[in-house]
Amino acid sequence: MGDPNQRSVHWSTVITVAAIGIAAGLFTLLGVVGELNRNSASRNDPEYQAAVLENIRPFGRVAVTGQSLEEDVAVKVATAEPAAEVMSGPQVYNIACIACHGPGIGGAPATGDVAAWQPRIAQGSILLNEHALQGLQGDTGYMPPKGGRVDLSDEEIIAAVEYIVRQSQ
Ligand code: HEC
Repeated sequence: MGDPNQRSVHWSTVITVAAIGIAAGLFTLLGVVGELNRNSASRNDPEYQAAVLENIRPFGRVAVTGQSLEEDVAVKVATAEPAAEVMSGPQVYNIACIACHGPGIGGAPATGDVAAWQPRIAQGSILLNEHALQGLQGDTGYMPPKGGRVDLSDEEIIAAVEYIVRQSQ
């Protein structure tokens, strides 16, 4: 049995040492996390990426057209077709027609307005498509050719007409 005061000093020392130990551990942990963050940031570095590409480059490369690899790659790049992006009826409608036909402004028959579309649909799809493609100065207003998007193909505009008609019957 020792002096009770002596004993309490002993425990506070233990606690102090433990606290220092925990703090040191936390600092080490923060350092490791910081290091990880630095590493992930440097992965976006073009120089780092180039080095990785160089490291994983295959040993042997074959030029399939019999030319050098560089020429071969150039040929492939030059002949690559741009991906054809044909838009669907709803897609065309949303970018080229909805401005007028959504709310039905400027004399445009609103999409979904069955009464307004009934006599127009009754003309038949050939005339309807022609008016959408060529434009129409009608009794209620002016419809610009292709709704103003002359860069879109006839097929895309016709798909949009079909979409409007489906929504308005
Ligand atoms: C700037 C406004 C505007 C835009 C954009 C527009 N339209 Fe129209 N559209 C009109 C107006 C106005 C009319 C009614 C013309 C009339 O009959 O007097 C009309 C009428 C039509 C008709 C009926 C034609 C007929 O014979 O009765 C169709 C079909 C049509 N639009 C399709 C489209 C399509 C498809 C698009 C998108 C590619 C489009 N419109 C974009 C204003 C617009």
